[in-house]
Amino acid sequence: MPDTIHYGDGPRHVAIIMDGNGRWATMRGRPRLFGHHAGAKRVREVVRSCDEVGVKYLTIFAFSTENWKRTQVEVAGLMSLFRRYIAKEARALRDENVRVRFIGDRVRLDAKLTGLMDEMEAQTADCTGVNLTVAINYGGRDEVARATQRLARDVQAGKLDPADVTVETLPRYLDTCVLPDPDLVIRTSGEARISNFLLWQSAYAEYEFVDTLWPDFTAGEFAGLVSNYAMRDRRFGAVKA
Ligand code: IPE
Ligand code: IPE
Ligand code: MG
Repeated sequence: MPDTIHYGDGPRHVAIIMDGNGRWATMRGRPRLFGHHAGAKRVREVVRSCDEVGVKYLTIFAFSTENWKRTQVEVAGLMSLFRRYIAKEARALRDENVRVRFIGDRVRLDAKLTGLMDEMEAQTADCTGVNLTVAINYGGRDEVARATQRLARDVQAGKLDPADVTVETLPRYLDTCVLPDPDLVIRTSGEARISNFLLWQSAYAEYEFVDTLWPDFTAGEFAGLVSNYAMRDRRFGAVKA
């Protein structure tokens, strides 16, 4: 596992709960999907700025396991937006050396979308720049439950001794097994909650809750939050001399 402790440095891994698209659209008298389209356009700018501000891993929350509770129109619109976004951005991201991964449970996603996701992961597998992870049908509790199923199967098959289930071995079963833990979690739109995002992984993350609605979030604001992080004193439970 890569080490996640960086005193006085910038964050290596930033995770973002991109919230506020619906309110942004409603304020303009437009349907919620209009806000989701505006929000999707913001992703590009933030991904591009990662190199400049020294962020090696960016993980973005696009659709939660709870978001299925929304209207069928909004859910279908979001799924179609994801398909279009992937198809449209794949080449540019590859050209910019961005390695793309997806986390979340794919079982409930349609085959066309998961096909595009697989393709994008394969096409960027040898990229060595920024690591972009997109969480679709992702929930922290669901991820831990799915991880525990896999772990239990390994125990049943005699591949894992229950005594070896530790804080080091358990995360190998999570969707994020190849990623370091996030150092900084940003949530836009003024809500101060984590809504089931990266529960295990964010145990010691620093948090920034900003009022900006996601479609108004800029690379400049991102850079400001990244630089604030360097001022935080991360003690990880210890007392620093
Ligand atoms: C975040 O914006 C995007 C998704 C959850 C898909 P919202 O759609 O939650 O926007 P608000 O919170 O209703 O304004
Ligand atoms: C969290 O936002 C999920 C995403 C940003 C994809 P929500 O808008 O779904 O969260 P709640 O409902 O306000 O907690
Ligand atoms: Mg919301």
